[in-house]
Amino acid sequence: MTIEVPTIRWRFATALDATLLAELNHQLIADEGHRNPMSVEELEQRTRRWLEADYRAVLFHQHAAVAYALFREDDGGRIHLRHFFVLRQLRRRGLGREAFRLLRTEVVPRDKRIVLEVLTANTAARAFWAALGFQDYAVTLELQPLGG
Ligand SMILES: CC(C)(COP(=O)(O)OP(=O)(O)OC[C@H]1O[C@@H](n2cnc3c(N)ncnc32)[C@H](O)[C@@H]1OP(=O)(O)O)[C@@H](O)C(=O)NCCC(=O)NCCS
Repeated sequence: MTIEVPTIRWRFATALDATLLAELNHQLIADEGHRNPMSVEELEQRTRRWLEADYRAVLFHQHAAVAYALFREDDGGRIHLRHFFVLRQLRRRGLGREAFRLLRTEVVPRDKRIVLEVLTANTAARAFWAALGFQDYAVTLELQPLGG
């Protein structure tokens, strides 16, 4: 059986892409089941701030954007992959795997360790990262606030 690798190209996003990135970020928050309540407009402002600071975003394209990633180098010199998202209707076709391969081999310095957080309930993403070779490294614990 031959496995077809999707052909995608990438480019760094700029402030001109902030609206698109915010839309995709909003979908990412919904899909991963995150508690973040920010609107698309608020996410757009945050995206602009982040891109002006030390975050970098990459858009992956076929005819149009199919995926994006957002990352920065943390204080420990590791690449913190904050966002990684493939369009809903295009999942399970190898796009995520190929986008990450490009990110790893062409975007992020090869000598850098990559870290990311994944929500425990996000079983799809956990299976995805495991399939790509990521291993559990730390677990975040939380205690609910005391009621009033
Ligand atoms: C996680 C995500 C990026 C995967 O993208 P994708 O393009 O569907 O992934 P691929 O098709 O390249 O999958 C590669 C492998 O990962 C695993 N995988 C991907 N999605 C999976 C799922 N829903 N369930 C189980 N395994 C899965 C499989 O092993 C898959 O290989 P296979 O299809 O040959 O079985 C995508 O589902 C997504 O954008 N989810 C919402 C955002 C998100 O949760 N991002 C990560 C936050 S930490």
